[in-house]
Amino acid sequence: MKLDIIAGARPNFMKIAPIIAALEKVNDKIQYRLIHTGQHYDKKMSGSFFEQLGIPEPNVNLEVGSGTQAEQTARIMERYETLLLQRHLDRSESEVERTQGKTKDSSITVGTTFKGKSDWVLVVGDVTSTMACSIAAKKLGVGVIHVEGGIRSNDITMPEEINRMVTDSITDVFYTTSEVANENLKKLGHDESKIRYVGNTMIDTLLKNMPRLQKPEAWDKLKLKERGYFVMTLHRPANVDEEAQLKNLIDEIVKGAKGMPIVFPVHPRTAKILKGIGIEADNLHMIEPLGYLEFNYLVKNSFAVITDSGGITEETTVMKVPCMTLRDNTERPETITIGTNELVGTNPDNIAPFMEKLHAGDWKAGKIPYLWDGETSERIVEDLLKL
Ligand code: UD1
Repeated sequence: MKLDIIAGARPNFMKIAPIIAALEKVNDKIQYRLIHTGQHYDKKMSGSFFEQLGIPEPNVNLEVGSGTQAEQTARIMERYETLLLQRHLDRSESEVERTQGKTKDSSITVGTTFKGKSDWVLVVGDVTSTMACSIAAKKLGVGVIHVEGGIRSNDITMPEEINRMVTDSITDVFYTTSEVANENLKKLGHDESKIRYVGNTMIDTLLKNMPRLQKPEAWDKLKLKERGYFVMTLHRPANVDEEAQLKNLIDEIVKGAKGMPIVFPVHPRTAKILKGIGIEADNLHMIEPLGYLEFNYLVKNSFAVITDSGGITEETTVMKVPCMTLRDNTERPETITIGTNELVGTNPDNIAPFMEKLHAGDWKAGKIPYLWDGETSERIVEDLLKL
């Protein structure tokens, strides 16, 4: 089998790392190439994850860079299609490399692990790269495998929800993380034979790296103490794109923290807006985005996490750290019904009562969802061998 694995943005990297490690164990039975779309390109948003998680250098980097949703989607589709078409022609390696310079897009660099046509593309999660590569592949008759398929926030204003809907509508094989995802897919009319509940590859990475987590520089600098600080991340357009909303949220969090330090690794999107607001508070510490090992060290030892990310709510559930989600919905309901997550909403007035509950030591303990056990990628590869 010839398989393309797609990674584009930060939350993809921890999901593909263990799949690649499991593929390496089956040697040549599945030949794969790793394609980085270049949606995230900063060292802090991409390169450091490859280094820390031992992900091999991508065979191809499409280098699409930043842009609007449509610009990124279009660029990824165009460049990935070009790459697939080269493979479809089944030319020899040297010919492909020679033709390369003549294509419209000379930024595509080809280093390959296999010749000939890709049979399948494996996409993970819900970012723009996930959707764009699925469409390009499917239209050329390449089968689509979606890891983390079937989850839904039912909030169509989120770009990720559109990415999930479109990707799932053309997916041939779903690897799912929850029973809810299975039900969603069945309700959409997908045949049960296409759906495999395997667990969560992001948790494979977390469990494997737990002993390797690294104290970040900020720990000593800010004199942090175990269970004595908050970790906060905010990057969703609904929270960060309007100055007033972002300011009100942060003000409420600072107040509710009652002097406890808040460590806030700032996403580039949020940093741009924050520059214009100029928020300051003695207990608010804004720092650069962290590497995987440093970020999860902070989370593991924190008093609580405040976030608008979906993936982080899965990690806090497994680490049993209280988590407040500043969103009105979630595509990961099991982090609430089973785990340590609570949906606070985007209204800043909602924050205070949850903060009170935390300080009172009244947070739920939570359990770990079925099959989030560190063995998901092995199950996926075992199943891929049967395709
Ligand atoms: C993307 C994903 C989101 C995910 C998030 C995690 C989509 C639709 N969204 O959102 O699901 O939770 O990644 O980070 O795919 N930028 C840099 N350096 C980079 C990458 C981006 O400075 O390496 C800047 C861009 O110029 C842009 C902003 O960050 O202004 C946002 O990047 P973008 O890739 O558009 O989306 P994210 O908000 O990161």
